[in-house]
Amino acid sequence: MTWFSNMMSFLSRAEHTTGSVLSMNQRNLLYIYPHNPREHFDLSDDKIKAKAVLAASGVPVPESYKVYGSFFELRNLEADLSAFPSFVVKPAHGRGGGGILVIDGKDGDAWTTPGGRRHTLDDMRSHLSDIVFGIHSFGLADHAIIEERVIQHPEMQRISPLGLADVRLILFKGKPVLAMSRIPTQRSDGKANLHQGAVGAGIDLNDGRITRAILGGHPVDQHPDTGEQLVGFTVPFWRHVMEVGLRTARAVPLGYIGADIVITPQGPMVLEINVRPGLQIQNANGTGMRAILEGLGGMHTEWDEGRYTEGAD
Ligand SMILES: Nc1ncnc2c1ncn2[C@@H]1O[C@H](COP(=O)(O)OP(=O)(O)O)[C@@H](O)[C@H]1O
Ligand SMILES: [Mg+2]
Repeated sequence: MTWFSNMMSFLSRAEHTTGSVLSMNQRNLLYIYPHNPREHFDLSDDKIKAKAVLAASGVPVPESYKVYGSFFELRNLEADLSAFPSFVVKPAHGRGGGGILVIDGKDGDAWTTPGGRRHTLDDMRSHLSDIVFGIHSFGLADHAIIEERVIQHPEMQRISPLGLADVRLILFKGKPVLAMSRIPTQRSDGKANLHQGAVGAGIDLNDGRITRAILGGHPVDQHPDTGEQLVGFTVPFWRHVMEVGLRTARAVPLGYIGADIVITPQGPMVLEINVRPGLQIQNANGTGMRAILEGLGGMHTEWDEGRYTEGAD
């Protein structure tokens, strides 16, 4: 990017963003450090622990089929994997999608990915060995999880045919702050990561409607690859998405989180929690988070009134 397009992007952001924007320093000093005790960061870093804690609180998470913690446990891999028509392999301590392998079927003696790649039993064994060895986890020994492959709701598939879209919901002290959907593109290689070129679509907390979307910091109305209209689209199961988000916040001893929620044909499911959720969600919504977080003026939603919160439990 040139300085000029940088400046234009800054201006278009400034112009469309109402309320003061929360900076990274403010996020860290005012919200993350005081409200997310370091000893509970593992709920964000360890997917096995996170799933156990969330499931115990009635938050839907992908079912774990199998967990491997040593090379020895891989001895029956072929029989283990053959029990499931589709699944996802992931490191318990992975991040940024590292080590994640989505398998959607078997062709002869090879497992196949949605992109058409084939993995033999030897490939699978070496992939799982790498995970257990710690290749994707800062060199620390890790666990490999085999879990249910999440299929997205047909409505989400329509706006996001290049990969699984999610809803990132920021919650502070158990209350929703901002939401956005992250929609993979060709440029993001099917990944729901804004820095890799996914679309960030701001969502109205009250009704689940996409109100604004950005691609590389610039507003867009449609999906860049398919032309499908994004602004105006309503995320299915919105009420359930909010309930699952609120339940997630209550389930963990963390005050400021990003919950990553995917929408299946049966309803929402939490994929992971983030203790340092990014700040681009403000740009996606055209709304700064400071006033919301401070509880000052504006952006009061019916969720704040506890209208849909479940009874104390
Ligand atoms: N169970 C699953 N089913 C389908 N896709 C999945 C599943 N788990 C992860 N993925 C894919 O991998 C991406 C990253 O997964 P995530 O659990 O968030 O790990 P990370 O911490 O590496 O970001 C998701 O956005 C999704 O595209
Ligand atoms: Mg993730």
